[in-house]
Order: sequence, then C-alpha cells, then structure tokens
Amino acid sequence: MADKLTWYGHATLGLETGGYRVLIDPFFTGNPAASTTADKVEADFILVSHGHGDHVGDAVEIAKRTGATVISNFEIATWFGAQGVEKTHPQHLGGGFKHPFGYLKLTLALHGSALPDGSYGGNPAGFLLTTNEGKKYYFAQDTGLFGDMKLIGEEGLDLAVIPIGDNFTMGPDDALRAVKLLQPKVVIPIHYNTFDVIAQDPSSWAARVERETSTRVVVLKPGESYEP
Ligand code: NI
Ligand code: MN
Repeated sequence: MADKLTWYGHATLGLETGGYRVLIDPFFTGNPAASTTADKVEADFILVSHGHGDHVGDAVEIAKRTGATVISNFEIATWFGAQGVEKTHPQHLGGGFKHPFGYLKLTLALHGSALPDGSYGGNPAGFLLTTNEGKKYYFAQDTGLFGDMKLIGEEGLDLAVIPIGDNFTMGPDDALRAVKLLQPKVVIPIHYNTFDVIAQDPSSWAARVERETSTRVVVLKPGESYEP
C-alpha cells in the first residue's frame, strides 16, 4: 500500500505508512488553518518536534484517547508522561530507533523548545524517517536554515517537508537555499498562512524552486494529501 501524507494545516501532518498512522505536531484546537478537529484524528504514534504550543497542540488528549505512543526528545517525552500519557518513547538529536513504522532519527533544528507550561523542553528537533520500504522522508518542522541540511540531504531524500513562513522559521529565500542543500525529489512547504505574520505565497515560492533546482514542489491545501 502506498504511503499517504496529509497536511492538516500549519505544521500538523499525518503519515500513513506500512499500515501505521503517524501524526506529527498535532495542533488542531486554536489553529485557524486546521482542516479537522482533534477528536476526529486517529494515531498509532505521535511525533512532537519541540515544546511550543503550536506543535504540542492536542497531543496529550489525542494520545490519551487513541493510546498512541508519543515520540519526542527526552525532556518532552518525560513531560508527556507527567501529563498522564501512558506510552512515550524518548530519543534525542542524532539518535535513531527502529519503530514499527520505520527507522526514525531526530535531527538538528535551529529553534526554541519551551513547553506550554514553561517546563524545559530540551532542544528542538526535526525528523528523518526511513520507512519499512526504504523511502526517506525529512520533516524539518520549525527551524532556521542550517548548513548541516547538506548532511541530511546526503541520505537521499524522497521527500522533504520544510517551513517557508518566515518570522518564526525559515522564510521563502532561506527555504529555497534549504532545498538546494537537501536536494529532495519532492518538497512540501508548511508553517505558513496560519497567522498574518507568516503569510506567504506558496505558488510563487514553488515557481522559484522549480526554476532553480530539480526538486518538484507539491503545494497542498490544509486537508489535502500526497502519496510520496
Ligand atoms: Ni516553534
Ligand atoms: Mn511553530
């Protein structure tokens, strides 16, 4: 069965791979761009990239309702445990683990990570997933541009999901430079147009990327899916 990636708006994604449902940074409640609500999504695993409210989002409630395992850095995974989430799996930057849905490595991200209640959330992360079928997907989540994206790109990416919103993360110019470092077959822009301060035109960005690189850009609307 083909993998399926759904963008729910902002940095919230759902990946179906190998029969598992992996939810990433599930921010529905209070997300003006959300295409569905927290009570409607299903998950076997929930990945949380960093502690900010627009990424922790509804993860506690969804994990409790679905019994999903929350995967994040050690500090955030411990925090989820303290919120009453039964199944957590702590990792940390540079470390990978073979989960049922694939081999997941936490990657560098240039950002913050304080949790919604002010708790220390460790360092922010991106995710590099090698699926059971050997496909490589990189989810940068919130980050500025960093040169080590070149190292991530050396893994040979089938797909990269990167922010273009500016203000809190890379903007369009740096996101274009990120594509040049990552050299993915396909890139999907996220973390834009949720709020006024991150308003961007994804189609003009897509045109620049396709003019200057050999990467194909897939622009989704919230709620739309792509089969990588
Ligand atoms: Ni953030
Ligand atoms: Mn964010």
